[in-house]
Amino acid sequence: MEFENKNVVITGGSTGIGLATAKAFIEKGANVWITGRNAENLQKAAAEIVSPRLNTVVSDTSNLAGIAVLEKAVAASGIEIDVLFLNAGTAVFNSIAQVTEADFDAQFNTNVKGSFFTLQKLLPNMKNGGAILFTSSTVATAANLGASVYSATKGALNKIAQIAANELVDRKIRVNIVSPGPVQTKILDSAVPTEEAKEYVASATALKRVGNPDEIAKTVLFLASDMASFITGTELLVDGGYTNYARK
Ligand SMILES: NC(=O)c1ccc[n+]([C@@H]2O[C@H](COP(=O)([O-])OP(=O)(O)OC[C@H]3O[C@@H](n4cnc5c(N)ncnc54)[C@H](OP(=O)(O)O)[C@@H]3O)[C@@H](O)[C@H]2O)c1
Repeated sequence: MEFENKNVVITGGSTGIGLATAKAFIEKGANVWITGRNAENLQKAAAEIVSPRLNTVVSDTSNLAGIAVLEKAVAASGIEIDVLFLNAGTAVFNSIAQVTEADFDAQFNTNVKGSFFTLQKLLPNMKNGGAILFTSSTVATAANLGASVYSATKGALNKIAQIAANELVDRKIRVNIVSPGPVQTKILDSAVPTEEAKEYVASATALKRVGNPDEIAKTVLFLASDMASFITGTELLVDGGYTNYARK
């Protein structure tokens, strides 16, 4: 896969799946911009990656002012974006009876509004023929207890991505969705805090384990590459068989 000197923007690139993907693109010779709300997390990511081709931007994707910071950073660098990875996300798991307005707004503002307006604002900077990837989730089509709001955000995101794929064909920009199953990151730790619960989640996958962020990163690079030149508007499950596993 050829990413030498390609320009890659990753929202939510300071930890977890976004960080693993940033590392993978840097290893392939790309110039990478990563975002997050927390400057310290971004500094830690930069200290791990150690590359002059890595750029960090403190940008809260949940509001237009935060997205404008990223927009300005991209404009100031004068680049055209080859790959846009809309990955920033947050999850709060609670029964419908217990969900607060703040939980609801945080998830919709980050996962849906953030991805939508980052896409809209960065489209003028996207290179024709480039690739856009969204991080959704297997929960977009599941109906797990306690995941009503989070699942709804990912369902909404899938529809936005599919329509973006159709709207961007004239520019030859491919748009695809990566839907991870359980992957060992901070979000999984917050959703599944005990070892017992984690073992249960692992046992619910066909491969009997949770995934690691590198495995999602590899999928993102594949979908962003010419190897996926005939793939657009699709959702790729990267879930160890979780979604279709025939539980006995
Ligand atoms: N791990 C899983 O099992 C799993 C499964 C399916 C889908 N996903 C999805 O994968 C994506 C990445 O999550 P992860 O699992 O890698 O968890 P993570 O390690 O918690 O990463 C989340 C990233 O998003 C950033 N972020 C959160 N809110 C943000 C905001 N308002 N503005 C900008 N950046 C923000 C975080 O940085 P700051 O906190 O510093 O802002 C961090 O870089 C999410 O969209 C998540 O829904 C995860």
